Amino acid sequence: MRLPLAFLLGATSLCAQTHTTNVDERKVPAYTLPALAVGEAKDWPRQRAALLAQFAHHVHGRTPATPGKIRVRVDGERDDCLGGLAHRTLLHIDLPELPGWHGMDVLLYVPQQAKAPVPCFFGLNFAGNQSVTDESDVPSTVAWLEDGPNVLAHHALPTSAGADASSWPLRTVVAHGFAIATVHYGDLEPDHKDGWRDGVRGAFAAKDATTHEGDAAWGAVGAWAFGLSRLVDHLVTDPRLDPARLAVVGHSRLGKAALWAGVQDERIALVIANESGEGGAALMRRDFGETIGDLVHNFPHWFCPRFAEYANAPERCPVDAHQLLALCAPRLLYVASARDDWWCDPRGEFLAAQHASAAWEPFGKRGLPAGDWPANHVRIGNEVGYHVRPGEHGLTPADWRHFLDFAELHWSQKH
Ligand code: GCU
Repeated sequence: MRLPLAFLLGATSLCAQTHTTNVDERKVPAYTLPALAVGEAKDWPRQRAALLAQFAHHVHGRTPATPGKIRVRVDGERDDCLGGLAHRTLLHIDLPELPGWHGMDVLLYVPQQAKAPVPCFFGLNFAGNQSVTDESDVPSTVAWLEDGPNVLAHHALPTSAGADASSWPLRTVVAHGFAIATVHYGDLEPDHKDGWRDGVRGAFAAKDATTHEGDAAWGAVGAWAFGLSRLVDHLVTDPRLDPARLAVVGHSRLGKAALWAGVQDERIALVIANESGEGGAALMRRDFGETIGDLVHNFPHWFCPRFAEYANAPERCPVDAHQLLALCAPRLLYVASARDDWWCDPRGEFLAAQHASAAWEPFGKRGLPAGDWPANHVRIGNEVGYHVRPGEHGLTPADWRHFLDFAELHWSQKH
């Protein structure tokens, strides 16, 4: 798992050597959140559209309209996967009208015994589809990979097979009756400053340079979110899957991408952000752990150029994370934290979900209750769910157990 850069280099933010990373709850300065405008349920579509436009303008940039329809190629199918539990499909999805993008490889498992269309979890992975499964015939990704113990010069080493399997407990998910699909995020855009040239943003810019211009041009998080929606384009057509029960899951930077996909794409019924931190579920005005300044300094390619204006002044940003989370209303939202993941400000993630909860009320739905940060592993909330687990940054089987419980609670009653 990734360690925060600032952690490796000491506790001083890299942004403007003037800001010292705060990890002391007693030193969090007072802050005032922008109001969450919640009227009657009938007003929400209009309020939601206005808020969404603000996030595009100030944080993530504009997502261009999708040119044409996806094209899907089946690269492989097997019936006897995950110890006989699952049918496995390998797919390649691209956009014929966006020829500059090479497309993305999808790994999809569907429970063998399914009698009716099943719900499906889906999300991006960090290290290639081969890394999430111990099945050695899943091909290694050919797209850019971040160098690490199992990756050399951006190419997967044989040891990368199954290396991230603990973050993707495929057998457990399928045994609970859910399908699960994943794509490597590098298929959408390599994660570095110049990565846009080799991903969907570059492909769009080749067609229309204005998509890459101006303060509200989209960033890499937007490109990764775009890929999630193109995966939804396919999932809703697979007759084995229930299009009304699709759950996006993302961890850390890919939790930021899952949130941005989830708030934009209302076909996604459940949005799960695991330890998504600053620029994700954590309140930006709460000075604890990573700041906007750290984000835009260390990852200048993730957000729209305008976001950098708020590097040392989060209070000037017209929006904050509770409003991003509220954009999921009245659908299901789940936020998860790890107690020692101070860089992500776990308490700030909880507070954002709590403040967002008002957006569910006009629909007669309930988010998180008022009250303190819950104890470890106590799952709270109704249509908005939350847990914090002990330990550090990572997507673990224990987190997945909560996601499955939450999805089963809401979905098994109705189907
Ligand atoms: C860095 C970054 C975080 C991000 C994390 C990750 O630590 O500062 O914002 O969430 O990487 O993606 O693992």
